[in-house]
Amino acid sequence: MQRIGILTSGGDCQALNGAMRGVAKGLYTNRKEKVEIYGIEDGYSGLIYGRYKKMNESDFENILNLGGTILGSSRQPFKTINEPDEKGTNKVKAMIENYKNMQLDALVILGGNGSHKTANLLSESGLNIVTLPKTIDNDIFGTEMTFGFASAVDIATEYIDRIRTTAASHKRIFIIEVMGNKAGWLTLNTGIAAGADIIVIPEIPYDTKTIVQVINKKIEQGQKTVILVVAEGIISKEESRMGKKELKEKRNKEGNLSSSFRMEQEIKQKVNLEVRSSVIGHIQRGGNPSAYDRILSSRLGVKCAELLLKKEYGKMVVMIHNNIRAIPLSETAGKKKVIKPEDEIVQEAKKLGICLGE
Ligand code: F6P
Repeated sequence: MQRIGILTSGGDCQALNGAMRGVAKGLYTNRKEKVEIYGIEDGYSGLIYGRYKKMNESDFENILNLGGTILGSSRQPFKTINEPDEKGTNKVKAMIENYKNMQLDALVILGGNGSHKTANLLSESGLNIVTLPKTIDNDIFGTEMTFGFASAVDIATEYIDRIRTTAASHKRIFIIEVMGNKAGWLTLNTGIAAGADIIVIPEIPYDTKTIVQVINKKIEQGQKTVILVVAEGIISKEESRMGKKELKEKRNKEGNLSSSFRMEQEIKQKVNLEVRSSVIGHIQRGGNPSAYDRILSSRLGVKCAELLLKKEYGKMVVMIHNNIRAIPLSETAGKKKVIKPEDEIVQEAKKLGICLGE
């Protein structure tokens, strides 16, 4: 008999349920011996405090199209994972003990970057771990695609399509803010899909002067609307030269505005049309997964089940050149996949006439 634990960790995203269903289907369909699956509640928190339930096959029915996570999720930041909680509990020790108390043969972790660092720590501590890469940010090193990303791009694109009609009716400049603190994949892809004029991502510091010039030139040429798509974590050239403390003080002084409203303040007196800002926010992570994410999460889930049945642990399941593979956890933990200015997609955006704010 094999006893498998499963948990979803960090910010939720679409197709978490699809991925868990893929794991369950893969296990139940191909098992040679009895398999029991234990759902651990609310991410690592459930593993620390021993909250879990035995899952039935029927728990995985009708969830492929369901957003969120049937197990619940929470954030347990890696940087404090080695610190005791408010009651003095050693979190890592508690997770290892609960894994052992549950008599698990392996644990499946669906998570993003931070969750992968903890997964690697647990793996290095001797637990049998297999992980699946989830996040709307698509910033996990070692995989071309994370599930959640394609759905979020679809949602953000539709949001901008809707704003575009108002922008056209009122001849306005719109600044739309997309999630992504350190990585601009979601912003760049959404911007291209929505036909944005200007896209600003965290990896490429922007110059307000360039942005103002580009906007005014487009207006002079007769354009009636200008669409800017900016990531949550954008930074100006001036700010990129500051230390952490100085930047924090500057942002505090400005009232800690979110990136789109900050950009609005910076440009609105210098451009020749009215400016409005809009933050898409958590709806990017919400609702049903797209068809692409349902397929991707099912493929990743089934590969995860294959590894579990072969007892191949310490790995993250990934997509490379559209094939599903697995890489050692140590190769991904602690690394982030960010956009490089020389990346093809950046060059293609520029060839489409999109300004990247440099
Ligand atoms: O990790 C995904 C993400 O959506 C980031 O892009 C964003 O910065 C963050 O989550 C927001 O998370 P929370 O739900 O904690 O506000």
